[in-house]
Amino acid sequence: MSFPEQRPRRLRRSPAMRRMVAETRLHPADLILPVFVREGLTAPAPISSMPGVVQHTEASLLTAAEEARDLGLAGIMLFGIPATRDAQGSAGLDPDGILNRSIRAVKDRVGDDLVVMSDLCLDEFTDHGHCGLVDETGEVDNDATLEVYAEMGVAQAAAGADVVAPSGMMDGQVAVIRQALDEAGHQHVPILAYAAKYASGFYGPFREAVDSQLTGDRKQYQMDAPNRTEALREVELDLAEGADMVMVKPASAYLDILSDTAAISDVPVSAYQVSGEYAMIEAAAANGWINRRTVITESLIAIRRAGATNVLTYYAAEVAGWLREELAGPRSTSAPAAPVPTSSPSAPSASTPVHPRVEPHTTAAPVEASAPGETAPPTRTDGESTDEPRTDAGFPPVS
Ligand code: PBG
Repeated sequence: MSFPEQRPRRLRRSPAMRRMVAETRLHPADLILPVFVREGLTAPAPISSMPGVVQHTEASLLTAAEEARDLGLAGIMLFGIPATRDAQGSAGLDPDGILNRSIRAVKDRVGDDLVVMSDLCLDEFTDHGHCGLVDETGEVDNDATLEVYAEMGVAQAAAGADVVAPSGMMDGQVAVIRQALDEAGHQHVPILAYAAKYASGFYGPFREAVDSQLTGDRKQYQMDAPNRTEALREVELDLAEGADMVMVKPASAYLDILSDTAAISDVPVSAYQVSGEYAMIEAAAANGWINRRTVITESLIAIRRAGATNVLTYYAAEVAGWLREELAGPRSTSAPAAPVPTSSPSAPSASTPVHPRVEPHTTAAPVEASAPGETAPPTRTDGESTDEPRTDAGFPPVS
């Protein structure tokens, strides 16, 4: 049977119909929020290339963690920025260094109600900005770095990290960290391995976010963009070394890698929508060139559709807020719109400057505003229709 009996459009006629047949959904528990905490800050510091994202103070970090908990996020991923750096990245190992003491403080605040993960890498802590120790020839010394990672993983687990996430792409890092954790009595702490992590220009804004000292690049240890089969090798090695979860990074430009990984992985697969992906959406939206909310939602749906169990995204709190608002809001076109939640992710604390959005995300437009016979929706400045029913993105009912 084919056309005219076959008409795929039948299942697309209304938001409710589309919702019923949506193959992919987003839920707050799919989203992991990366957060930056910087030693010595007295107020949250905006990151200019990531409008809406800040470096947290140790105090505002706790507020952000509480908010993540209240929103029902999957977890947070902590990055620490020390006041002083050295060639060995010592501040990353110090139990009282910024990252380890922040892990402890966050866990004290949120307990087991939020999964607290920590970035296990040296680049934030070294004065040369590399992810490992640099030898006399200027190369990153894989095996010497492993010993440091092992110690760092134990320090993070001791501080209370629920998950450690090695992101340095050293060969053998998962096995060494697993062994060290087990020997130190942290058998229960899982490893989220940045398994297929590419040397990527999309990390650009992150360099500002962590005040990176790097001058060169990471091409000798992170993967090379042309390679697809090699990603499976990396994933398989990490699985064999005992990774409890694996990650693909960046996300949007590597959806083929994500799809391949999901097909072979017998553990959950994360994908990291990185700083440059965020910055590009923000920049285009700020110019009125794209519909911000539509593109954010679509980008995350695409990452989930490609196979990600969960997504690390700087949008995690904001999107979770939207999802809650959509579920709480009335589905009837005649009822008033739901109130905007009080916890606005773009304003982690009262003292945080709120970045102006060209397109402030208002509560969703009335469902089916453009149904036949109704008045046409107003036109947006960015040229897109406001016909974005809040039920249209395939969001699930939450029990
Ligand atoms: C390394 C690390 C990086 C990112 C996360 N962990 C930087 C890099 O590998 O160069 C990038 C994240 C982002 O761009 O959002 N510790």
